[in-house]
Amino acid sequence: MRFDVLTLFPELIRAFRTTGVLGRAVDQGRVEIGVHDLRSWAGNRWGQVDDEPYGGGAGMVIQAPPVLRAVRDLRGEGGGPGRLVMLTPRGRVFDQHLAEELAGAGRIILLCGRYEGFDERVNEILEPEEVSIGDFILGGGEVAAMVVMEAVARLVPGVVGDPRSVEEDSFTTGLLDHPAYTRPPEVEGHGIPEVLSSGHHERIRRWRLEEAVRLTVERRPDLIRRHWGLYTAEVRALVRRFGPDLARSCETREDGDGGG
Ligand code: ADE
Repeated sequence: MRFDVLTLFPELIRAFRTTGVLGRAVDQGRVEIGVHDLRSWAGNRWGQVDDEPYGGGAGMVIQAPPVLRAVRDLRGEGGGPGRLVMLTPRGRVFDQHLAEELAGAGRIILLCGRYEGFDERVNEILEPEEVSIGDFILGGGEVAAMVVMEAVARLVPGVVGDPRSVEEDSFTTGLLDHPAYTRPPEVEGHGIPEVLSSGHHERIRRWRLEEAVRLTVERRPDLIRRHWGLYTAEVRALVRRFGPDLARSCETREDGDGGG
């Protein structure tokens, strides 16, 4: 998997590239991250790539020509056209499904904006996929690009040391994770659930699933509604137990769908 990041703050991405799980994946050659300073494609000696917005107003807008030149150069280097992703608060909201979809691409070029964003003609001409990491405004797309790269890279085989971590994530898609405990067995009077030290694998599996469903019903009923169609019979039965009204509304909706 290759990422190419086009940014005005390359040092931010460089630090990220050498650290932690991702740093190891880069060292092992499973993931490549190219970092490209947009200023290298400025049409002037002082590296300016932004200008005032037509119509006036606060902030600066990143000019289209440097971005067009940069993306075309990166594509011309080979490695396939890949998917072109622009990080912007107006984009499709990033989630695990989109991470899985992007993990299937061999290459992703990420455009990080700053200021008031890009000249709209970047979008008209290059038609990037616009991606947001949530309904809040960051100072720029760099942190968002790091979020996307980290979520996608973990799905590349071999990047996460123990593949069970990734498998378990996908088995429990649509549920929050169950609580976890580690030594010592007691902390300021708080022990651990007895079942976890029972050595009884099936009871432990069942307890974790129950906790995951209970937490999700309590905190994220929207996840339950969205993923109802994908749940196993066991998960659905637990939703009925912890959130009977929620389960009924999901079932009613499903019956409605089936009846056309
Ligand atoms: N740039 C600024 N805010 C952003 C967000 N929420 N998601 C992606 N890119 C952004």
